[in-house]
Amino acid sequence: MDSLSLLSPYLFSYKGRNFTVQEGLKPKDLDALQHVDVRPSDIYMITYPKSGTIWMQQILVKITDAVYPHQEEDATNRLRFPWLEGCVVDSFQGQRPDPRLCRTHLPPDMLPIGVKAKRVKVVYVMRNPKDVLVSLYHFAHSWKMLETPKSFEAFFQDFIDGKAFMGSWFDHVREYENEKDKMDIHFVKYEDMLKDLRGEVVKLCDFLGKDLTDEAIDHVVEMSTFQNMKTNPKANYKDLVEKQRYSSPTMRKGAAGDWKNFFTVAQNEYFDRVLEEKMSDLPLSFNWEIK
Ligand code: A3P
Repeated sequence: MDSLSLLSPYLFSYKGRNFTVQEGLKPKDLDALQHVDVRPSDIYMITYPKSGTIWMQQILVKITDAVYPHQEEDATNRLRFPWLEGCVVDSFQGQRPDPRLCRTHLPPDMLPIGVKAKRVKVVYVMRNPKDVLVSLYHFAHSWKMLETPKSFEAFFQDFIDGKAFMGSWFDHVREYENEKDKMDIHFVKYEDMLKDLRGEVVKLCDFLGKDLTDEAIDHVVEMSTFQNMKTNPKANYKDLVEKQRYSSPTMRKGAAGDWKNFFTVAQNEYFDRVLEEKMSDLPLSFNWEIK
């Protein structure tokens, strides 16, 4: 434990990112992930936490089921679509049929080397950072691995300062944007999925080279709505609530703009200034409005 650079009893920092102490991950485990076996057919889904990970996970599982119906199984998405950082702990990088689905919050410099080297398909989901902040604030009350925030104000500042779980949202997005030419990466916005889920599923299938019928696409969309996922224990991580690792459901509100219920006017203005300072040079659009 001494070798860990502790930010708090709950988080340690490694290579500029913040990982949970209690999961038992060590820097050497994180380094070892760079050598995880990667196949060109693997599909990686990458997110900053609370950007819509389990939503995209369900979409990709359902697309895979449509293309490879014989592989469809009864396991939860959590098991079918393992979390890379959890593989060291849970050791289930085992025998899975191609295409293997893998999700991670790691920044590009900590990914398995094969992701770039083998031009693996990468899906990167982004969300309005103000809503990410609010969602992560609630998640920090729910997930036992994270410290319960002392106040919204304190959490707000920690998020901006890169002291929350996984570090800075601004760095995460910037680094993937900067690396995009070195990877086979498809960016998806959470808000665009809210606006037109079917349209985003069609774009995803194009990117992945998966040719689905209209009916199959309709099915993927139907299975991935907030309402359906909320009642689907394979998709919504209910097992983690039952195991008391989460104290409340991950499917919380599933909306855009919840930040307006939490940010003060001054916090919003401050956040906008930080966003402008840190991100305005990027070619990405930071317009999250759903018209
Ligand atoms: P809220 O906390 O704002 O409700 P992640 O999976 O990256 O942890 O992100 C969790 C967030 O995605 C939660 O946001 C959750 O409600 C939302 N989410 C999950 N599935 C969704 C869906 N089908 N539609 C819309 N939002 C969804």
